Amino acid sequence: MVDVDSFVAEKITEIGDAIGDANAVIALSGGVDSSTAAALAYEAVGDQLTPVYVDTGLMRKGETEQVRETFEYVDSLRIVDARERFLEKLSGVTDPEEKRHAIGEQFIREFETVARDVGAEYLVQGTIYPDRIESEGTIKSHHNVGGLPERIDFEGIVEPMRDLYKDEVREVARELDLEEVVSERMPFPGPGLAVRILGEVTEEKLVVAREANHVVEEELVEYEPWQALAAVIGKATGVKGDNRVHGWVVAVRSVESRDGMTARAQEIDWETLQRIQSRITGENETVSRVVYDVTHKPPATIEYE
Ligand code: XMP
Repeated sequence: MVDVDSFVAEKITEIGDAIGDANAVIALSGGVDSSTAAALAYEAVGDQLTPVYVDTGLMRKGETEQVRETFEYVDSLRIVDARERFLEKLSGVTDPEEKRHAIGEQFIREFETVARDVGAEYLVQGTIYPDRIESEGTIKSHHNVGGLPERIDFEGIVEPMRDLYKDEVREVARELDLEEVVSERMPFPGPGLAVRILGEVTEEKLVVAREANHVVEEELVEYEPWQALAAVIGKATGVKGDNRVHGWVVAVRSVESRDGMTARAQEIDWETLQRIQSRITGENETVSRVVYDVTHKPPATIEYE
C-alpha cells in the first residue's frame, strides 16, 4: 500500500465500478478486517450493501452490541441471532477440523438466507493477504475464505483488502474514522471461542471462555499484544473453600507478531499474571486453575484448535 488516502479513494471507486447498481452483502464479524471492508463498501455503494452479522454465540463478550454501535448509521444492517442453532450443530463434535467445518457450514446457511432475501449479486469480503496464504496451504481451513463463494451463487466477489497485512488494514480503518475499539482491536478467529475450547463446545465452557477472554484482553492492554486470549483446555483438581473440586483449566496466551504467521509468546510480569489468575478463578466458580502458555509459533499455533 503506497499511501492510505489514495488507497481508500482508489478502492471506493473500484468497489463502486464492480458492484454498479446491484446489491451486495458482507459478513461482519466485529473485527477490524470485515468492519473496514464494510465501511469502504458502504462509502462506495451505500444502502445497496447489506452488512450481515451472525451472532453465533461464539463471539467475544459484548461483540453484538459493539457491531450495532459501529454500524448504527447503516439502515440495512442485519443481525441474525443464531446462537441456539450453532450450539446444536456443535453438539458432540470434538475433532478440531470437524468443528471448524460445522461452524463454516452453519454460517453459510445463515448467510445464504439473508443473501437470497436481499437479492445480493455481489459478495464483499474482508479477506487479507495472510488469510489467502494460509488457506492456500494446508495450515487450516479459514471458513471466511472458502465457503461462501462456493455455496452461494454470486455474480462477483469483491475483496478490497486482499493484498494488505493487518497493520495496513488498521491504517485504513483509522483513515475511515472507525472507532479505536475497532481499528486497534486484536484479531479474533472466525470460528470464535470454539477454537479456544478443547473438545466439545458446551454452554458451560462458553461462559468460562467468554469471561476469561474478556479478563485477559482487559488486563493485557498495556502490553499491546498482537493477540491475547484464554482457552478452556481441560479439567483438573482444585480446592474451593473446604472442598476439592474438579474444575476447568484455563490457559492464558499472549503473543507478539506482525502477521500472525509466526509469533512469540510475550513475557508478562508476575503481578499481572497473578491478577489475571485471581480474576478468572474468582469470577468463575467452576475454574480451578490458570496456566500461562510460553510457547512460540511455531511449534504451537496461536489458537488452541
Ligand atoms: P493460528 O492459530 O493458526 O492463527 O496460529 C493465526 C491467526 O489466524 C487467526 N485464525 C483465524 N481467523 N478464521 C479467521 O478469520 C479462522 O478460521 C481462524 N483460525 C485462526 C488466529 O486468531 C490468529 O490471529
